[in-house]
Amino acid sequence: PAPLRVGLLGLGTVGSGTYAVLERNAALIAARAGRRIEVRMVAVRNLARARTVLGEQPGTPLLTDDPQALVCSPEVDVVVEVMGGTGLARSLVLQAIAHGKHVVTANKALLAEHGAEIFAAAQARGVVVAYEGAVAVSIPIIKALREGLTANRIEWVAGIINGTTNFILSAMRERGLSFATALAEAQALGYAEADPAFDVQGTDAAHKLSLLAANAFGTLPQYPQVQVQGITAVDAADVAFAEQLGYRLKLLGIAKRHGTGLELRVHPTLLPESHLLAQVHGSMNAVMVKSDAAGITLYYGAGAGAEQTGSAVIADLVDLARSASLSPAQRVPALGFASGVQPGLPV
Ligand code: HSE
Repeated sequence: PAPLRVGLLGLGTVGSGTYAVLERNAALIAARAGRRIEVRMVAVRNLARARTVLGEQPGTPLLTDDPQALVCSPEVDVVVEVMGGTGLARSLVLQAIAHGKHVVTANKALLAEHGAEIFAAAQARGVVVAYEGAVAVSIPIIKALREGLTANRIEWVAGIINGTTNFILSAMRERGLSFATALAEAQALGYAEADPAFDVQGTDAAHKLSLLAANAFGTLPQYPQVQVQGITAVDAADVAFAEQLGYRLKLLGIAKRHGTGLELRVHPTLLPESHLLAQVHGSMNAVMVKSDAAGITLYYGAGAGAEQTGSAVIADLVDLARSASLSPAQRVPALGFASGVQPGLPV
């Protein structure tokens, strides 16, 4: 069968991690996907830096600093957007869709803020927009919500869905680091957003929560409806007092059904130290789901990292390699299955 031909937009942390895993595990990925997945083009700003990541063997993808050329290239079946941001990334993703390309992205901000426009464009053009890497990277939570739990009515989803803030809160409690030192470590380890205000103010968790809720309840991503409080006001004394009282501070994202309404919030929460979510340390993430038939399920894994995100991006590529020839009606819907719930509390 013909290979699935990939165009990679961006070769930063996530782009390099995706490329490395695709190269290293090419044979097993091809066996599982039923055909090879080949990166044919890579678009970056800094060509010299990208050459050092890609090397110069035969078969190395074409490198360009013209992302417009990539999104309309006849050599590309699927555009992997891992450049980040919501300006140029939005316009490139929309152009890719207009040219009939499928899109795989790890960009939670883009889908949380422009999902309505992007998913509508993809539906109209009959292409897939997949984003497992956008939420709790190593955890296949999007798949779990709309496939594994597909028989269920979901009541709530609650989780630790930002690795940077969990790393900071853990380092303050376990190692007595200051907020600023812990944040600097998280940045050095590559966990934080380019602008770490997105992490510490709760914005990144709110972006991800809106995507989790979209899949649990079949709504559009409704990021503006999320009530958000980050961890910028948390200091060493808060962490220490919580500990003395037998609690741990965690930044939780919560989406909870109330009749036909949906409560969406992100805020620091005191969890009893025996709670399963209180055992999630460092940059790890965990998502707990309450559904009517399966009951409570819990998903745990790395919340950030280059190859960890790459693993999720490639899972979407494998899905696409298998299902690209299906009709849109046969595919799993991009936003889960509608359940009649809308963000906001019923009045
Ligand atoms: N900055 C994000 C986090 C990266 O810390 O969770 C993964 O989305």
